[in-house]
This record gives sequence, structure tokens and C-alpha cells, in this order.
Amino acid sequence: MLRHGKGKKMASVQKIQPRKQSLQTQDSESLAQKIWGLDWKLHFPRTLTANIVVDRIAAVEAWPLVHQLFPEVYQRDATESRFKDDGAADAKQKYYEELGDFFVFQDLAESDRVMGLAVGSLLDWSSYNFRNIAVHPDYQNLGLYPMFFELLASIMKDHGVRRIEGDVAPSNQHHLHVLNKMGCVVSSLGYSERWGVLLHMTRYLQDEDREQCARLFSMTASSDIAAMQRPAGKK
Ligand SMILES: CC(C)(COP(=O)(O)OP(=O)(O)OC[C@H]1O[C@@H](n2cnc3c(N)ncnc32)[C@H](O)[C@@H]1OP(=O)(O)O)[C@@H](O)C(=O)NCCC(=O)NCCS
Repeated sequence: MLRHGKGKKMASVQKIQPRKQSLQTQDSESLAQKIWGLDWKLHFPRTLTANIVVDRIAAVEAWPLVHQLFPEVYQRDATESRFKDDGAADAKQKYYEELGDFFVFQDLAESDRVMGLAVGSLLDWSSYNFRNIAVHPDYQNLGLYPMFFELLASIMKDHGVRRIEGDVAPSNQHHLHVLNKMGCVVSSLGYSERWGVLLHMTRYLQDEDREQCARLFSMTASSDIAAMQRPAGKK
């Protein structure tokens, strides 16, 4: 049983049989399989709750879903951004087709409605880059993202991956709150013409790495860990 934050119980995440209309394709061996021996097909699709299923899909299937979902999730035109990454659109698409892992969330109780997407890729030989998560507003605050993140973390840990890393805008209070509850720590601060200001967050998957980081940089590691383990509402 996974736990969400201060001891809240969450539904077990179970493997399900691929559905007839599964979006999963028979793609060639992924980089995660080549480097870590991680065969995604053994782990997805999975149920997160009774009616929410998450599946890994190919980039070509993900693009239309991205275009459909992102405006609803972000509720603004992304081209308004002062920060842009449109100088190499072709190369970006090829990069994602070669290296991206796309995960689609669907609601089986609503005619398989696509209501979430997550995107990741290998960062290097021992780190996974969690690039984006988008949960439709109708499905936010149900704990779906932490359920998925913990599932991914446990699969990665079992394959010897040492950390999941990702970037978040310091203004994204919702995402920061959830990352904080999941034990992610700020590991650097970046700024660029492409993305603006971002906090780089790391979730250590191996205790020894988290302990080493705490030894080097934290005076409050023991109380932080105790706070994460304390049942909800307990002083
Ligand atoms: C941020 C996001 C990924 C979180 O996913 P989710 O499935 O809704 O996550 P949760 O259900 O765990 O969120 C609920 C928690 O967030 C808290 N929360 C909700 N809105 C909040 C806000 N504006 N500020 C701080 N905390 C907030 C809730 O109180 C709850 O906290 P609790 O677990 O301590 O009770 C999702 O809401 C989303 O897709 N947002 C829009 C896109 C985005 O920002 N993506 C990340 C950029 S890469």
C-alpha cells in the first residue's frame, strides 16, 4: 500500500491486462531497457484507482493528446510566454520520438477520457528526468500524481536508478507542495532564455544517497524525515 504524505492511505496500484484499445504500441527497445533493463511493457498499463488507468504510449500517439490536454490544464496560451523554446522544433520532436516516455491517464468510467499526461526521459546513466506532469483540473487534488510518481519511483528503484529529477517554476505552489510531500529536495536553481527561473528538484531513490546529501548539506534532515513519517494531524 502506497502512502500519500502524512500517512494518508491510497489505493494499491495494480497491473491490468492491456485493453483492446490500449494506446501502447510495440515500440523498439527503449533506452531505459537498454541501459537499466527496464521493460516498460511489464509495468504498464496500470490502474491507479478503480477507474483511472495509466499507460505508456508512443510519442506519435501522444502529440494530439498533448495539444488537446495542455490548453485545458494550463488554461492559457503557452505562446504568450516570455521564455521560448521554438528554435529547433524538428529536432525537439525527433528527440522526444527517440527518447521520450509518454504516460497517458484515462478515466474508464468516462469513456476512456484522457485526463492526464506525464513525460519523462533518461537524464543520464543513473538519473531519470521527470519532464512534465499535467492533470486535468477536473481530476486534480485526488492524489493521482503522487500515486503515479510513487509507482514510477518504485519501478525505477527496483532497476537500480538512483534519483528522479525535474524542474518546477518557483511560482507553482501546487506542484511544489506535492513534491515537498513526496520528499523531493531542491538540488539547484536555474535560469534560462528557454524556461525562465526553475528550481531543480531531486527525489533520491536510494537511502545512502539521501543520507549522504543530508550529511553534506542539511542541518534538519532528521526532523524532515520524521515530519514525513508522522501520521496526518499528529503533533
Ligand atoms: C500540480 C499537479 C501535477 C498536482 O497533481 P494532483 O494529482 O492534483 O496532486 P494532488 O492530488 O496530490 O494535490 C493535492 C494536494 O495539493 C494541495 N494543493 C492544491 N492546490 C494547491 C496550491 N495552489 N498551493 C499549494 N498546495 C495546493 C492540496 O491541498 C493537497 O495537499 P495535501 O495532499 O497536503 O492535502 C496538477 O495539479 C497539475 O497538473 N497542475 C497543472 C499543471 C502543472 O502545474 N504541472 C506541473 C508543471 S511540470
